[in-house]
Amino acid sequence: MDCKIRRWRMEDAPYLAEALNNKNIHNNLRDGLPFPYTVSDAEKFITAMLNSDINKTYAFAITVDDKAIGSIGVFRNENIHFRTAEMGYYIAEPYWGQGIGTSAVNQICRYIFDHTDIIRIYAEPFAYNMASCRILEKSGFVCEGILRKNAVKNGKIIDMKMYSLLKI
Ligand SMILES: CC(C)(COP(=O)(O)OP(=O)(O)OC[C@H]1O[C@@H](n2cnc3c(N)ncnc32)[C@H](O)[C@@H]1OP(=O)(O)O)[C@@H](O)C(=O)NCCC(=O)NCCS
Repeated sequence: MDCKIRRWRMEDAPYLAEALNNKNIHNNLRDGLPFPYTVSDAEKFITAMLNSDINKTYAFAITVDDKAIGSIGVFRNENIHFRTAEMGYYIAEPYWGQGIGTSAVNQICRYIFDHTDIIRIYAEPFAYNMASCRILEKSGFVCEGILRKNAVKNGKIIDMKMYSLLKI
C-alpha cells in the first residue's frame, strides 16, 4: 500500500488517538505514553512536535490518502553524539503487513541523509519484535548486537537489539 510521510497537522489528532488506543502498539514501545490515549493527548503530542527544534526533531505523520495512520520520527542525540539520531515509529494495527512500515523507514532515512548532517540513524527494537527487526533489515539497517537484559517491559526483563544505518 502506498504511504507518504508529511508534517503533522492538528486535524490528525483523532486518527492518532485511534491508532494509539491499542495495547499491541504500547507493548512494543517504551513506557510513558498514556493509555487510554485521548484526542487531547494526541493534540499535545502534535503541538510539541510542531514547536520542536527543527534541527533536532524530525517528526512526521505516516499517511495513506493523506489520513494519518502512524507516526515516525528521528531524534538527534547530544554532546559528542550530535551527528547520531534515534528513530522510532508505529502504525495503526489495521495497516500492518502491507509494506507501510518499510516504506516509511526508507522515506525518513532518505530525507534525513539528504537534508541534515546526521550520519548515523539507529533503532533499538525489543528483541522479540520480529516485525520491527524485519523492516529495519529490509531497509538496509545492520544489527550491531543484542543489548542483553536492557529493559523491563510489562514486568519482564527483555533483550533489545541495536540496529543502525550509516550515511554512505
Ligand atoms: C513494527 C511495525 C511498524 C511494522 O509495520 P508494517 O507496516 O507492518 O511493516 P511491513 O509490512 O513493512 O513489514 C513487516 C515485515 O515483518 C514481518 N513480520 C511481521 N510479523 C512477524 C513475525 N511475528 N515474525 C516474523 N516476521 C514478521 C512481515 O512478514 C514483513 O516482512 P516481509 O515483507 O519480509 O514479509 C508495526 O507492526 C507496528 O507499528 N508495531 C507496533 C509498534 C512498534 O513495534 N514500533 C517499533 C518499535 S521499535
